[in-house]
Amino acid sequence: MDFFVDTAEISEISELSSSGMVDGVTTNPSLIMKSGRDVREVLAEICALVKGPVSAEVVATDADRMTDEGRTLAKIAENIVVKVPLTWDGLRACRTLAADGIKVNVTLCFNSAQALLAAKANATYISPFIGRLDDLGQDGMELIEDIRTIYDNYSYETRILAASIRSPLHVSSSALAGADVVTVPPAVLRRLALHPLTDKGLASFLADWEKTGMTIA
Ligand code: G3P
Repeated sequence: MDFFVDTAEISEISELSSSGMVDGVTTNPSLIMKSGRDVREVLAEICALVKGPVSAEVVATDADRMTDEGRTLAKIAENIVVKVPLTWDGLRACRTLAADGIKVNVTLCFNSAQALLAAKANATYISPFIGRLDDLGQDGMELIEDIRTIYDNYSYETRILAASIRSPLHVSSSALAGADVVTVPPAVLRRLALHPLTDKGLASFLADWEKTGMTIA
């Protein structure tokens, strides 16, 4: 399973990349706004920092201008993946950009019918938003399971990129549901390795080792 980090903060990406656990990055207009940076500059910097896929979202809403913006974004770096919203215009732009050989991440997906259309539009990635469905009392993880079943039924190659991740449980559940990628906010990514019993057990091991007076190296 690939781990992408969901942020446009260079310091966060740099620090987390050093763990070797970051396979790519996803951004969106809100994350770019939060970075306070020029969109082209920060995307170029992210693409130089992380060799894996970096999702950059168009902001136009009609297919032609989405396509123009997508082509502009794709020129920033070879690892740019163009993000388009799951609208009819977004699907049209996805087909055109995919025909150009540009990888597309279709985002803001909230049901399996939408995901089916994205696969038919030759999307490289589909981004179902788990957390925002959970926030409404719906089962976001069920959507991942349904998309997995549908894509496997028809051998679609579009990769399921589980997004809107709120917890380590979302990450493990997405893996169980068969997502290909999970994009994780930095704070959640840091929590993945943490468990109080690990800390307690390590403290106990080290306290006992201290009593031996021995060293290993
Ligand atoms: O990549 C999509 C992600 O940024 C959305 O997350 O928490 O705003 O629903 P969230």
